[in-house]
Amino acid sequence: MKKRIVVFPGDGIGPEVTEQARRVLEKTAELGGLKLDIQEFPIGGASIDAYGVPLKEEYLKAAKRADAVLLGAVGGPKWDVVEPSIRPEKALLALRRKLKTYANLRPAKPYPALLQASTLKPEVISSVDILVVRELTGGIYFGKPRGIKDDKKGYNTLVYWRHEIERIARRAFDLAMLRKKHVTSVDKANILETSMFWRKIVKEVAAGYPGVKLDHMYVDNCAMQIIRNPSQFDVILTDNMFGDILSDEASMLTGSLGMLPSASMGDKKGLFEPIHGSAPDIAGKGIANPIATIASVAMMFDYAFSMVELSDMIENAIRKVLDDGLRTKDIYDGTGRLVSTSEMGEEILKRMG
Ligand code: IPM
Ligand code: MN
Repeated sequence: MKKRIVVFPGDGIGPEVTEQARRVLEKTAELGGLKLDIQEFPIGGASIDAYGVPLKEEYLKAAKRADAVLLGAVGGPKWDVVEPSIRPEKALLALRRKLKTYANLRPAKPYPALLQASTLKPEVISSVDILVVRELTGGIYFGKPRGIKDDKKGYNTLVYWRHEIERIARRAFDLAMLRKKHVTSVDKANILETSMFWRKIVKEVAAGYPGVKLDHMYVDNCAMQIIRNPSQFDVILTDNMFGDILSDEASMLTGSLGMLPSASMGDKKGLFEPIHGSAPDIAGKGIANPIATIASVAMMFDYAFSMVELSDMIENAIRKVLDDGLRTKDIYDGTGRLVSTSEMGEEILKRMG
């Protein structure tokens, strides 16, 4: 079997972390007897610098043809001055939209070895196992009209169509069936019509899943509950922007933003990326944590290729490396061994197979 993969390293720490993830990808394929055809292209700021656009049409096409896409991160202060329509982030949004990867899955489950690394008490986080299901191709990120008018106003539109809510809700319930059968739908239905509609549709979808418990929570309360008692959650189903914010928050339950992977799924295609950004302040120093991107590769084998054993092999290697006390700077607490980005990649590779 052969899989076509497009890799977009992107900006900031993107290239450093994807380099390690790519090594893990190649080794996993080798051990699993899978042939890979990997193509690597610039995206975001790197692409603006090279071609004047954040994503070339040709590379977008390649991504559409691929079986899976691996992405580092995009953006940085260097490109804050460019016109909004060609900002680095636009490339990522275009990619998500064109690949139709509407379901962004962001699991937050602390590794036992890292319970001390979180800013929260170990007893609060030890049994946490949250899956944030974030709607990724709609909502305020894409709604029109949008713009800045005459230096007088800035505006965006929050809109959700019935079919968009139905399909993301179905995905969340399907996933909940494989977990603890509990969906918390997060919205702001006390104020936003979009949320009132969201709630109504989620209830309709829930009727088809009598075995799954559904509750609704306002986003402000949810932000508080994630810190107060995070183990109450199983699947958090929410819209694009709330999901963006809550998943960063949930990542801190695992000790670091550098730990959280993601899978963005459409009906067929998958896009895999860490949830962290390009971290320009630490780029090029070899101190970034590659685990989120490597764990995204694990999600690729699971969700895009249905090769669960290979996915587990990567997950186990990550667990071992942490049990053995290896730590990048973001998760280093003075104990264990401080390692660089590439050493972390190397040590994970050693523990595979
Ligand atoms: C993320 C990022 C992106 C988002 C940015 C870079 C556009 O924060 O993947 O969470 O907001 O979706
Ligand atoms: Mn984000």
